[in-house]
Amino acid sequence: MRILVTGASGRLGRAVLPRLHADGMTVRATSRRPQTGSEVEWVVADLATGDGLPEAVAGMDAVLHLASAPRGGQTYRVDVLGTRRLVVAAGSAGVLHLVYVSIVGVDRVPFPYYRHKLAAEEVVAAGPVPWSVLRATQFPQFLDDLLASSARLGPVIGDRAVLAQPVDPGEVAARLAARLVAGPLGGTEEYGGPQVIRFDEAVRTWRQARGSRRPLLPVRIPGRLGRELRAGGLVTEALPKGARTWADHLADTYGGTGRK
Ligand SMILES: NC(=O)c1ccc[n+]([C@@H]2O[C@H](COP(=O)([O-])OP(=O)(O)OC[C@H]3O[C@@H](n4cnc5c(N)ncnc54)[C@H](OP(=O)(O)O)[C@@H]3O)[C@@H](O)[C@H]2O)c1
Repeated sequence: MRILVTGASGRLGRAVLPRLHADGMTVRATSRRPQTGSEVEWVVADLATGDGLPEAVAGMDAVLHLASAPRGGQTYRVDVLGTRRLVVAAGSAGVLHLVYVSIVGVDRVPFPYYRHKLAAEEVVAAGPVPWSVLRATQFPQFLDDLLASSARLGPVIGDRAVLAQPVDPGEVAARLAARLVAGPLGGTEEYGGPQVIRFDEAVRTWRQARGSRRPLLPVRIPGRLGRELRAGGLVTEALPKGARTWADHLADTYGGTGRK
């Protein structure tokens, strides 16, 4: 199978490329900058302008669409309009399956970024290419980065009762590879990590792993956003789940025994 991977240089993309290669798939990968690699054919394409997209999708059986611009004010242009450009180009090229990676909670949690992800899902579902959407929960590296940047300024600030369910990007990559083999779902599936953890517990174990003395400064996120986050808007009961825990991530990153 010939697969085009957008956003291949990102966190999930870096886990996906070796997985697809190991599964014997022929992989073409997009980036806005020229890249090199022996196992993958890199091409330059930009979702914000459409440059390079027709050439990128030509000859592909499937597209795995990971590219996204959560920061920098380009989200609508890249995630919504760019996804539309990609879907149209893939339709014209006769692509047989487009898999879009989204986030658990895009339909519940009122983050502006999530509104755009949900709109992009709708673009995919309305498009001419048979499709699947995989909504994943947060990667542990995302939570780790969030805590680290908060701790740089002083205490870790957060709502103690927010629920998270970190999932390993390598396991998401394996799930995506399986979806490509299984073919278009014509629907949405969710995939989360093995444990639902409260924010205060995530912070406690993170501080322990890093030997950090930064205290947690608890705040209560107001309004509907806070209610959704505390009620489990970011977590899923879908099965199967990943196996690697937040403690595994901390052990890999900072040392220790893991699985605490
Ligand atoms: N991070 C999480 O915790 C998480 C959880 C669940 C789902 N997801 C979803 O999984 C996907 C991948 O996430 P990630 O964390 O791997 O993202 P990431 O590390 O931020 O990578 C995003 C990629 O998008 C590409 N990109 C940005 N603007 C672009 C444009 N104008 N045209 C073409 N490509 C562009 C970038 O590639 P270049 O810079 O090389 O062009 C980058 O490699 C996203 O759709 C995200 O919403 C993420």
